[in-house]
Amino acid sequence: MDYEKYIEEAKKHLEEILREQIERVHRIRNEGDWIDYSKLPKIIIGVAGGDGIGPYITEQAQRVLEFLLQEEISEGKVEFRKIEGLTIENRVKHMQAVPDDVLEEIKKCHVLLKGPTTTPKKGDPWPNIESANVALRRYLDLFANVRPVKVPELGIDWVFFRENTEGAYMLGSKGFAIDDELAIDFRVITEPGAERIIRLAFEYAKKNNRRKVSVVTKANVVKKTDGLFLSVAERVAKDYPEIEWDDWFIDIMTAKLIDPARRSQFDVIVLPNLYGDILTDEAAQIQGGVGTAGSANIGKRYAMFEAIHGTALRMVKEGRGKYANPMSMIKAGAMMLEHLGFTEKARKLNMAIDICNSYERKIVVTGRPDGATGEEMANYVIETLKDEKLEEKWEKYAKK
Ligand code: IPM
Ligand code: MG
Repeated sequence: MDYEKYIEEAKKHLEEILREQIERVHRIRNEGDWIDYSKLPKIIIGVAGGDGIGPYITEQAQRVLEFLLQEEISEGKVEFRKIEGLTIENRVKHMQAVPDDVLEEIKKCHVLLKGPTTTPKKGDPWPNIESANVALRRYLDLFANVRPVKVPELGIDWVFFRENTEGAYMLGSKGFAIDDELAIDFRVITEPGAERIIRLAFEYAKKNNRRKVSVVTKANVVKKTDGLFLSVAERVAKDYPEIEWDDWFIDIMTAKLIDPARRSQFDVIVLPNLYGDILTDEAAQIQGGVGTAGSANIGKRYAMFEAIHGTALRMVKEGRGKYANPMSMIKAGAMMLEHLGFTEKARKLNMAIDICNSYERKIVVTGRPDGATGEEMANYVIETLKDEKLEEKWEKYAKK
């Protein structure tokens, strides 16, 4: 085998990556301020259903949001806009993670409500194109993936801040290989990239009267990248003397999340991309499954709200699409309202979600015809929101 040829290629490849990342570091350092939604004459909410059960559950979440925003919509202050073409068929047709014209439409919106999209892997019937989620996070620079997990009965109230544009994901499609003999992927942490997510986590803790921030890495083994993440955390933490902080390694953290004696002590958690991907699935499972969690992808200019689960194609193939649980997308919708500054509407929606999902549970979605349909679930949420005694009702349950 002519290894020299590969080594020469690899040198060029690494040089390209380095130049790109150096440029990125400067871009992040010089990025502008946060968008102020309250100053916009109109907020445009893009809606992309995605694949599989995506369009079913997204439609239901949109109905709930339209109910809450009916006044703003009729006054022309909020517009929902359907984004076409973020489907696996169209993406494969263009051989792009997000086709250019679709991206252009998305960029005309301020925020995006997005259903799950198919992410092919090697061996699937689809060509192995990049994940639309991962691409959108990068194209729109959505650096913070915020995932709350709450189980009141177990004293669990966690908010994860997963770094969303770096780590193993950023260069996940840019590794190189020597045929089938050797394969290398890259993982990147930058100082300003770590700083902005860690600072956001501390800011969130401060604004929401949270007690503690836990930083999760594997800095004892993955010394360069995780080492940098941790040292940035040490520095940022000094700006928040009123907030307690600690650091954990990802392996023991994974164990502690299921340790009943320990887990209720965690509060805000900030971590690099892949650790965040894994740990938030575990956390969501404790809450009742990945289908129960919503997720906000936040950047300074754009934001995208989605479920953390997949497309469940099989459900649709078996004709069960309408039985898919829209709760994850409705939760993502609540995060969207909060992010846009509709704080009171978000608060109400969260109460309605608690009532419908945990406290009252008049109907239950099972994913099969023995349970309610997604539409019935959304109707239940809307009916609950209409109840003038919503707040009293919620408080009564919450105190128990
Ligand atoms: C998530 C998902 C995505 C990710 C997949 C679909 C690429 O698992 O949002 O957690 O790994 O980030
Ligand atoms: Mg995941």
